[in-house]
Formats: sequence, structure tokens, C-alpha cells
Amino acid sequence: MQIYAWTPGALEDLIDDDTIMIVGSAPSSPFGMIDPIPELGQIAERRGVWLHVDACVGGYLAPFVRMNGRKLADFDFAVPAVCSLSADLHKFGFCPKPASTVFYRDADKAQHHMFDADVWPNGRFLTSTIVGTRPAGGVAGAWATMQFLGRDGYMRVAAALMDFVDAYQAGIRATGGLKVLGKPDLSIVAFGSDEFDVFRVAELMSEKGWLGGLVQKPKGIHRMMSMFHEPVLDEYLDDLRAAVGVVRQAPPSQATIRASY
Ligand SMILES: Cc1ncc(COP(=O)(O)O)c(C=O)c1O
Repeated sequence: MQIYAWTPGALEDLIDDDTIMIVGSAPSSPFGMIDPIPELGQIAERRGVWLHVDACVGGYLAPFVRMNGRKLADFDFAVPAVCSLSADLHKFGFCPKPASTVFYRDADKAQHHMFDADVWPNGRFLTSTIVGTRPAGGVAGAWATMQFLGRDGYMRVAAALMDFVDAYQAGIRATGGLKVLGKPDLSIVAFGSDEFDVFRVAELMSEKGWLGGLVQKPKGIHRMMSMFHEPVLDEYLDDLRAAVGVVRQAPPSQATIRASY
């Protein structure tokens, strides 16, 4: 199923002399699919541009999902053209904000990260964060979280989370009229319908207190799943089935809510 409005070929067509970088996601926010990073890598090599991977959602989840034995396509420095990769500690690293990570293939490339100004009376100002002075609490919190969980902890959470996401997807697929959009690789799942306006279902779900996100083009209900959602899986699916039943029986109607990020 073609979900995205772009293809690697279409992306390559947009590259011109002003292009310094192309970016892929692992996974993308709307449909939770890992972009074809090896193909983007070939384009980056052919066209001589930097390839960055936004692994903000997957960076601290995908490696442990793999260690647990699931297959995922290469999205990281295994792809030779990948120059940099961002991974959010505050997402599936389970760390407090504000602290996050960006990795570079080598030290030379990391130099591009620095803000370096030497044109004022105070002297050379060299910093790796645009915002200047920052509290260290977030970094300390992230360090403590990682020490606490360790490799085994992250693997354990990844195993439980992916089992839960499988059960969630099975529940969506078993609900008549709904379909999962694309093939989610990790913990983001969006689902829509060819039969009715799925935003109507979202409206009914929100009346019952479920606050899911939405995607547009195609329309879908969007969930970034975490283990917080696991205890209410059955309750959620019961309410979803009921909401779909109501929408299917009602005369066709369009929802008034809109997707907003
Ligand atoms: C793929 C992806 N990249 C980057 C971000 C930005 O994250 P934040 O707003 O926490 O910086 C998000 C947020 O959901 C995301 O899904």
C-alpha cells in the first residue's frame, strides 16, 4: 500500500545545487514506518549530500527490538552514507527532559554541530547548543535512567512493548471496517477505514475519554504506544468496536475534528 506522498526517486528529483542534506526517519511520526534508509544512502552517495536519520522515536527502541530477535531494515551507521543520527532520550530512552542525543559518524562531522563565533569583545564563543547555558539535571536524570535500566532493562521493555503492539494491531485488524495504515515497524500505529470517516470514530472515542492523535492523507487514528497503554488494551478495543458499530450503522457523515500535530 502506498502511504507516503513521496518516494526516494521523487526526493532525488528535488535535490539541486543548494541541497546540503537529505533526511529519513526511523520511524516516521505519522505511520511508524522506517524510511528506506539504504536507498536514501545510495542517493546521498550519488549526489554528494549529507544523510541524516531522524531516529528520535526509534533510536532507543529499535536496537533492543533487534536484540530480541525481530528483523528491522538497516537505518543506522550500518548504512555507509549515514552521516548523523538523532535519538531522543525522552521518548523510548524513558529519560526526563531536557536531554537528547545526536550521533555523528566521525569527529570531523561532529565539528559541524558547533556554534563558533569570535567577533565580539568577550572572546571566542564555542558551544554545541544554540541555547547556550543549560541545566545539567536532564543529563544526570538520563544517565541515572540508563544506569537503572541497562541493556537488559531496555530489552525487557522492548519485548513487552512489541508484544503489546502486536496485540493492539491484531485487535484493530479484527475490528471490521478498520485497517492498519502501512506496516508499522515499532511502536507507532495508525489505522483508518475505506468504509467510513474514521475521524467520526475518533470523535466518539474522545467522548469516552480516549485521546488518540490523528493523521491526515489518508485519514487515520494515530497512537504512539507505550507500556502505559497496556493495562487498558481490552477496554480500549471494546470501546473502539462499539464506536465503529455506531458509525457503521449511522447514515454516512463527516467528522468536524481536524488532524493537528
Ligand atoms: C520522528 C520524530 N522526530 C522528531 C520528533 C520531535 O520530538 P520533540 O518534539 O520531542 O523534540 C518527533 C515527535 O514526535 C518525532 O515523532
